[in-house]
Amino acid sequence: MDIATNNNQIIKLESIDSTNNYANKLIKEQRVKSGTVIWANEQYKGRGIRNNQWDSETGKSLTFSIILYPDFINIDDHFLISKFVSLALTDFLEKENVEATIKWPNDIYVGDKKIAGILIENTIMKSKIATSVIGIGININQQKFNENLPNPVSLTQITGKAYDIEEILHKILYHINYWYNEIKSATWDDIFTWYLEKLYNLNYKSKFKVGDKYMYGKVIGVTKIGHLILEIDDGKIMTFSYKEIEYA
Ligand code: BTN
Repeated sequence: MDIATNNNQIIKLESIDSTNNYANKLIKEQRVKSGTVIWANEQYKGRGIRNNQWDSETGKSLTFSIILYPDFINIDDHFLISKFVSLALTDFLEKENVEATIKWPNDIYVGDKKIAGILIENTIMKSKIATSVIGIGININQQKFNENLPNPVSLTQITGKAYDIEEILHKILYHINYWYNEIKSATWDDIFTWYLEKLYNLNYKSKFKVGDKYMYGKVIGVTKIGHLILEIDDGKIMTFSYKEIEYA
């Protein structure tokens, strides 16, 4: 892999509340180059989806956001961003000899454990995605995690190796740049097929939480707008947005 092919502008911060917050503020003030990265050694108020927090150990995990202007993507196709970033992360892990899957809507899993999360925040202009801040948190060298996290895992726990965080950042950027180009050239149906091949628990029954109730459903796919498609016990097909349902 040729690290020199990346020409992302990288803004390295020692400590920040959230790299997504920093990136969101930055793009309000100026139009930075597409692919600009905000990378923080320490993130003290990292955010996840559904108002969750993202905890990371200073210097031991990788927390960064990348700024893109994917104005060729319609709002209805916004989930394409989640797809290509997830594929980039699973490709990166594969290159490190770690087989990973994409747990809908935005987690990267190794077996039944979460190694990375993605938080995408877009702005819209005339029904297109004007700006996209893609925040990625990936557990790299941590050995210990906060006790209230259900099932975290780090790369080092899987492989037994210690990693250089900056080198990992460059490797991940290589895959993100590659997949971002792919969505400009490959057909989106192909992207969707590749995404489904990596989808966690595809064709398996899982337990879900909907409001304060629990239910089972077989994961059979994801719609174009990113809703999870489940087959319920009576054969009924239902779709859910990430605000309506979560894995239990
Ligand atoms: C999730 O699992 O819910 C998504 C977690 C996303 C965490 C990353 S870390 C870098 C960026 N900045 C944030 O505040 N969040 C994302």
